[in-house]
Amino acid sequence: MLDYEAEAAHYDRTRGGVPRARAAAEAVLSLVPPGARTLLDLACGTGLVTERLVRPGLSVYGADAAHAMLRVAEGRLPGRTVRADARRLPLPDAAVDAVSAVWLLHLVPFAPEIVAEAARVLRPGGVLIATVDKDAAHDVGSDIDAILRPRRSAHVGSDTSAHITAHAALHGLAPTPGADFTGHGQGSSPRDTLRKLRGGYYASWFRGDAADIEALAASLAALPDQDRPRADPRYRLARFVRRG
Ligand SMILES: C[S@@+](CC[C@H](N)C(=O)[O-])C[C@H]1O[C@@H](n2cnc3c(N)ncnc32)[C@H](O)[C@@H]1O
Repeated sequence: MLDYEAEAAHYDRTRGGVPRARAAAEAVLSLVPPGARTLLDLACGTGLVTERLVRPGLSVYGADAAHAMLRVAEGRLPGRTVRADARRLPLPDAAVDAVSAVWLLHLVPFAPEIVAEAARVLRPGGVLIATVDKDAAHDVGSDIDAILRPRRSAHVGSDTSAHITAHAALHGLAPTPGADFTGHGQGSSPRDTLRKLRGGYYASWFRGDAADIEALAASLAALPDQDRPRADPRYRLARFVRRG
């Protein structure tokens, strides 16, 4: 995982900024039940999405593990943020009506523990809304996708929707229809993709086969328009309801 203590300084500029945050927040809110009074945004980061979840009658809180990210979030949501690992929230059972997690589950090897903890803090009838299948959303249909997709299909990510749905069921969370949002500014260029490949971002897709990675790198380097980002991805939000 990236070092989010270091990422905080430039996070908002490099992750699609307000257009991406607004799209994510609108999609999350479209899945929050009208009567919900409390929402906890897990991995709130700098709070760029979180602050856009605030609406009349809904108290919104953010939790994140990184001090530096949380400092920025606290400026946006004074007194409403807490430093916490999403696996161990400082809340009693059945405390909130909604839990959201945008761009968290793909990062960690312990997504099932986060799902279990979200289920614990949700009231019966409450909802968990979380991005799933994040990496698979990138470059769909592009020339980059044509190179990466064969590897991706073999990749079982920590946030694949089947994996998350199976674990949710173990904790009384039933799937209901979700929503999508556009990852404004998140389309990758071949050069970006190559940099991520060399930086180990896709490491879990390979079984340590350096020759395979070099072949992939050569294919990416041969693509035209090395610095032109391909189409913005559409990210998927899954939604689960806590059974009574
Ligand atoms: C890609 S950022 C997403 C931030 C925000 N949700 C957004 O969409 O802009 C991922 C965030 O997850 C946080 N994070 C990673 N592991 C965590 C954990 N176990 N518990 C809480 N937060 C975590 C990081 O500190 C970082 O702020």
